[in-house]
Amino acid sequence: MTLKVGVIGFGNIAKAIITPLLDQEILRPEEIVCLVNSKKSFENLKKNYKYKINIYHSNSSESDLVWHCPIKILAVKPQQLKNIKEVNFNENNKYILISILAGVSLKTLESIFPKHNCIRAVTNIPITIGQGLTGIAWNNDIDDKNKNFIKNIFENSGKVYEFSEDYLDIFLALTSSAPAIIALIIDALGDGGLSGGLTKKLSEELVLDMIFGTVLMMKDLKVSPHELKNMVTSPAGTTIAALRILEEKGFRSTLIESIIGAMNKSKEFR
Ligand SMILES: NC(=O)c1ccc[n+]([C@@H]2O[C@H](COP(=O)([O-])OP(=O)(O)OC[C@H]3O[C@@H](n4cnc5c(N)ncnc54)[C@H](OP(=O)(O)O)[C@@H]3O)[C@@H](O)[C@H]2O)c1
Repeated sequence: MTLKVGVIGFGNIAKAIITPLLDQEILRPEEIVCLVNSKKSFENLKKNYKYKINIYHSNSSESDLVWHCPIKILAVKPQQLKNIKEVNFNENNKYILISILAGVSLKTLESIFPKHNCIRAVTNIPITIGQGLTGIAWNNDIDDKNKNFIKNIFENSGKVYEFSEDYLDIFLALTSSAPAIIALIIDALGDGGLSGGLTKKLSEELVLDMIFGTVLMMKDLKVSPHELKNMVTSPAGTTIAALRILEEKGFRSTLIESIIGAMNKSKEFR
């Protein structure tokens, strides 16, 4: 068995990264070793995951196998990091560890995993459908061959941006946390439709299609947000009545502050 990629923490995001690689046969199931914490998750994955990968829970005697993989993806929650203990079976060379954890810095990772070359990749949930955005901060010791392999993992499911580490917190806030903000806005607009007498289901369907059309128009016709706002806002009309209420309630500054809040929280995990 040739082990290529080890995944420490096979939860939502790790699955979203790995599954397309298996779907597209970039990796074979036998080349992957995944680790979860609980027997419950282990049994659930064994039973329900669509590929027969090597999967273990952290208390099993085989759990060390993950450390034999030359490339590892660290995908536990930042609060769970203290439970991960490094093992290095490769005395001569450092293996590579890609952390997708929010906030945790390269400096911290290098102190916890001194026998690995660590890099950080911040990705987002649309990676599940091949529409992800991933920001990568490299450690200086990664060679071009490994860089290309790692970029390929994420480019396979979306776009990749390379950054200095300083920008990863704001990248995370804007791309990784903000899908929840968008979901909340869609839910709230749906409640607006409901309040006006439509069903919630129809309201959400309308909101989703409205957002989709608006975004496509901005992207395809290169219409800026400001221009689009002016296009639909006529004097003394309905739209300016809506926008006035949002301005009065501090909607724009609330959104700005929510992004800063997510960025600051990410910095706390340093
Ligand atoms: N969710 C997002 O949109 C998103 C986006 C970008 C980045 N991230 C980052 O991705 C990471 C994971 O997020 P997630 O949403 O995928 O979380 P999740 O679904 O809770 O996955 C965490 C995984 O880690 C496992 N785990 C916990 N402790 C472990 C241990 N000691 N040894 C081995 N495995 C262990 C868990 O196993 P059990 O199930 O057995 O507990 C679970 O499989 C976080 O650091 C987060 O910052 C998340």
